[in-house]
Amino acid sequence: MTDSSPSFTDRRVIVTGASGGVGGTLVRLFRDAGAQVIGTDVVPGEGVVACDLRDENAITDFAGQAVADLGGLDILCNVAGVQHFARLGDITAAELRLHTDVNLVAPMLLTQAVAPALVASAAAGRGGNVVTIASISATFAQPYNSVYCASKAGVLLGMRSLAIELAQQRVRVNCVSPGGIETPMPHNAARALPADIDWSLLMKSTSAFPGFMPPADVCDAVLFLASDAAKSITGTNLVVDRGVVF
Ligand SMILES: NC(=O)c1ccc[n+]([C@@H]2O[C@H](COP(=O)([O-])OP(=O)(O)OC[C@H]3O[C@@H](n4cnc5c(N)ncnc54)[C@H](O)[C@@H]3O)[C@@H](O)[C@H]2O)c1
Repeated sequence: MTDSSPSFTDRRVIVTGASGGVGGTLVRLFRDAGAQVIGTDVVPGEGVVACDLRDENAITDFAGQAVADLGGLDILCNVAGVQHFARLGDITAAELRLHTDVNLVAPMLLTQAVAPALVASAAAGRGGNVVTIASISATFAQPYNSVYCASKAGVLLGMRSLAIELAQQRVRVNCVSPGGIETPMPHNAARALPADIDWSLLMKSTSAFPGFMPPADVCDAVLFLASDAAKSITGTNLVVDRGVVF
């Protein structure tokens, strides 16, 4: 956090994917900025509330309990995600459903579950809003990544649609679309690729600033959109990708 970072004193925040690279960093930065935060993940972590986002009943239960524990909610950050590369011939219905459930269905259902609390927050002038991590894969076609790309494209447009629905209640809904971040996710995804794929297809993109970003660079964009500094921004997609060119 820098001196110019927004303050979140007394703001009540939920972060999914809290055991992961981006989610864990985001929980820490929100707390450093004065927020009360409940982090959740399917993987256990210190202070992380267990919830499997593939389970719609678990989402409802988690949302109800978290809002009760926080005494309301001002900010929902949908960060949890999965990414498994696959060639067309290797795609399974189970993998399609997994990506859709975690990357698209869960953020939509969680937003639905906490919407009344966010409406109350906005009405009280506490800035109720949602920030969802999509990806540059939501708008760029990528070989062997069709399952992930489709799920991220879905959540991006889903969230932009919800921004219009919730605008009357002054609840803002935005996305951040990162390029490569230095977390286990892209490395694990790449390791699972078969050796005989056409690597030249994967190498077609480059970025103006080389290398993966630290998670904090993406979190800074989330913090900005979640803060009052972004009070006139809704329905947007803030791309944080070091200038990717395809
Ligand atoms: N790392 C990248 O290069 C990159 C690039 C663009 C977008 N993203 C997106 O950023 C977000 C954060 O990813 P990350 O890089 O921190 O990866 P990560 O793997 O470190 O974190 C993702 C977290 O989501 C959790 N998760 C997965 N399935 C879940 C489920 N069923 N229920 C609850 N939690 C579940 C995982 O346990 C993990 O802690 C994701 O939405 C990802 O798609 C990542």
